[in-house]
Amino acid sequence: MDLFLLEKALLGLFIAMITAITVSKLRGKRFKLPPGPLPVPIFGNWLQVGDDLNHRNLADFAKKFGEVLLLRMGQRNLVVVSSPDLAKDVLHTQGVEFGSRTRNVVFDIFTGKGQDMVFTVYGEHWRKMRRIMTVPFFTNKVVQQYRYGWEDEAARVVEDVKKNPEAATGGIVLRKRLQLMMYNNMYRIMFDRRFENEEDPLFVKLKALNGERSRLAQSFDYNYGDFIPILRPLLRGYLKICKEVKERRFQLFKDFFVEERKKLASTTGVTNNGLKCAIDHIMEAEQKGEINEDNVLYIVENINVAAIETTLWSIEWGIAELVNHPEIQKKLRNEIDTVLGPGVQVTEPDTHKLPYLQAVIKETLRLRMAIPLLVPHMNINDAKLGGFDIPAESKVLVNAWWLANNPAHWKNPEEFRPERFLEEESKVEANGNDFRYLPFGVGRRSCPGIILALPILGITIGRLVQNFELLPPPGQAKLDTTEKGGQFSLHILKHSTIVANPKIV
Ligand code: HEM
Repeated sequence: MDLFLLEKALLGLFIAMITAITVSKLRGKRFKLPPGPLPVPIFGNWLQVGDDLNHRNLADFAKKFGEVLLLRMGQRNLVVVSSPDLAKDVLHTQGVEFGSRTRNVVFDIFTGKGQDMVFTVYGEHWRKMRRIMTVPFFTNKVVQQYRYGWEDEAARVVEDVKKNPEAATGGIVLRKRLQLMMYNNMYRIMFDRRFENEEDPLFVKLKALNGERSRLAQSFDYNYGDFIPILRPLLRGYLKICKEVKERRFQLFKDFFVEERKKLASTTGVTNNGLKCAIDHIMEAEQKGEINEDNVLYIVENINVAAIETTLWSIEWGIAELVNHPEIQKKLRNEIDTVLGPGVQVTEPDTHKLPYLQAVIKETLRLRMAIPLLVPHMNINDAKLGGFDIPAESKVLVNAWWLANNPAHWKNPEEFRPERFLEEESKVEANGNDFRYLPFGVGRRSCPGIILALPILGITIGRLVQNFELLPPPGQAKLDTTEKGGQFSLHILKHSTIVANPKIV
């Protein structure tokens, strides 16, 4: 850091300290803030709490401070909600008040300050984006139109794994092939196109840029500049990389997918004969002037992240749990063989006839929630929650993982036991009918993609289990299921090598 910058930083630090003390004095008089660790000027609780605000650490704080608590992360207020009743208040009863999103400096770049759907505040733009995205993505008609594609993609995974001699001996990193499948599942819906294999250069490029975007956004490395604005100049290098990745990604979406589709539509008229894919609907909205060209690209960006990664992580967790619980895997295979008959491949309508498969999926989403703190919510104005004042523009995290893993509400929650969803929790669905179990959130900002995610999970996990015995690699008793958390994501730390022994029908 050069001297000039240091001088500026120190001066800024001093001014911020005075401001923080004054503000906190004023606030203290006016507000009844939720409990939390005692903040110090400027840094707030940051030095005590650290960067890794993962679901487990936040659950520990809840045990200490209660079901609503406040952490001051530098300049930012972070409110953590940890009970079903207060989750209901935030997501349902006061769904409008808490229906906005916070972004940080990095998400500002990737979402163009909320020109997308996922990270925009609650209001006109969000309503418009949700309306425009519903018909091409979030209806049962879409499921019925594309389920054949998902079944085809799962069949190709099975075929490729069977062809790979390594799979049945030393094992393979199954996730890699499943990643291609998930891209194809979503790119068929979006652009009516697929990638032939893992080496497809366009797929390789796309995957690398999306991976880079996720790594940069989910990392904790930039927290200091986000929490303490005067330190932001130190983030210049990081933010520059974010901007470059964003530009390259958007150029790729535009040149190779959106423009290609436009060309195809103008030469073959696909948009007029009922074979519209999602981007045709979205471009129609653009032509009508409802959204602009950038919004179109932000929709593509949102689907790349919100749809592909979350579903892939959940499949990966599900498979890992089944490998580590062979008796559950066997029971699932028996159900499929008994209900469908040996060798009859699972289709979307079949998934509704397979209660144990549904229970395995629910249990995976409970124990290994892909978005354990939901996507951060935000109140634009001062609000009330649980008898406390919540200052305007607080980042509100609902610890959905803790709601679903709190021993006060669940029997032996640390156990992977799908039977719970057929026994004591048989009425609990993934759609938020019970505030203890919100893997997709609930209310206005809940996940609209649940309608696609559940059948894709069912088809994929069902097909893998009916076609293979899935085992840890030789010499290993269990897969390593250490978690890796990000700003609000949860995935498996090490992509496991898995042995897939073909089942002889
Ligand atoms: C297993 C897979 C998935 C999981 C666990 C998941 C989970 C979630 C969660 C927890 C939220 C935030 C809810 C909240 O903040 O209250 C969310 C939001 C969202 N998800 Fe998903 N999701 C999955 C798959 C998908 C898919 C397949 C799509 C699209 C095709 C999708 C699109 C979205 C969108 C657009 C939002 C933002 C909604 C808004 O802000 O209004 N998700 N998802």
